[in-house]
Amino acid sequence: MEIVLSGIRSTGKLHLGNYFGALKNFVKMQHENRCFFFIADYHSLTTHPTPDDLHGSVKQVITEYLACGIDPDVATVFLQSDLPEVSELYLLLNMNAYVGELERTTSFKDKVRLQPNNVNAGLLTYPVLMAADIIIHKANKVPVGKDQEQNLEITRKFAKRFNHIYKVNFFPEPTAYNFGDDLVKIPGLDGTGKMGKSEGNGIFLADPPEVIRKKVMRAVTDSGPTRNNQEMSDPIKNLFTLMEVVSEPETGKFFLDKYNQCNIRYGDLKKQLAEDIIKFTNPFRERITEIYSNDAYLRRVVNEGAEKARLSASKTLREVREIIGFKPF
Ligand code: TYM
Repeated sequence: MEIVLSGIRSTGKLHLGNYFGALKNFVKMQHENRCFFFIADYHSLTTHPTPDDLHGSVKQVITEYLACGIDPDVATVFLQSDLPEVSELYLLLNMNAYVGELERTTSFKDKVRLQPNNVNAGLLTYPVLMAADIIIHKANKVPVGKDQEQNLEITRKFAKRFNHIYKVNFFPEPTAYNFGDDLVKIPGLDGTGKMGKSEGNGIFLADPPEVIRKKVMRAVTDSGPTRNNQEMSDPIKNLFTLMEVVSEPETGKFFLDKYNQCNIRYGDLKKQLAEDIIKFTNPFRERITEIYSNDAYLRRVVNEGAEKARLSASKTLREVREIIGFKPF
């Protein structure tokens, strides 16, 4: 049995990228493995240090986890901020994390570019906290999207370094995981890059049908193919990638044939894609509304999750303290 762990920041509603990158695999894995799924509310402060409604965002994300099928009776569902042990391990790992290597990470460089006026130390040490999240439960599989690959590589480096420095074989080296082998990157509707929460290019699981239709119909396209089997531009590739994950395979094939024969109408493709996304997200939307209003249930899930997660985290931390040399008088 593997120990599986993953998390999502509480910076807003979940989008299709979060679902296909992390949640979908997690839901599939929860019954056969020991699973931890948490909300990275500390991490969200690295980009939003003074959030308008931190509690509301956390409530939204936990509701959406449950609506997607995470079962709190089999998986441990918890909040990062409910585990002080993680902060302590983060502090201890920071002693063996070097500024140079943290400055070189792609996500740090990206964030510096995006928020030049808020290059805080939390941003620099983001991967250290992430490593602490993972190794405190000795997780070995981490279902995440492609964008987290480098963070997992750093986690392995820190786990290995700890074992080496303290001459132990204590932490396993966790790997990023996806059932479909390759880690996925779900594109946005703006023709470039990946779907994100703050890029304004995403479809959220909670979006009502009319919003989904509007967003998809506005998606960037090009002027259409002029030669048979012409190579696709990025915006069109993106629409086909979205279709691959939400539509029936025959639908994708139908439009691909049309594209290759130069008689595709992007309006038809978008209409179909929008309806398929609506069909796909319908059950989530219904459950989100139902769960969000059930405060007693959410309270029970979070409290029980914190208790279970702390059992596992405090055991690891006790052993780490011993390994490093802290002793009671
Ligand atoms: P976050 O909140 O940015 O994203 C949560 C998960 O969703 C995946 N994801 C995507 N996958 C495919 N295509 C996309 N367009 C897309 N956008 C987001 C991410 O890969 C991720 O799996 N650092 C993490 C949170 C975290 C964490 C952890 C994850 C903190 N500690 C420990 C795993 C283990 C993050 O920012 O995720």
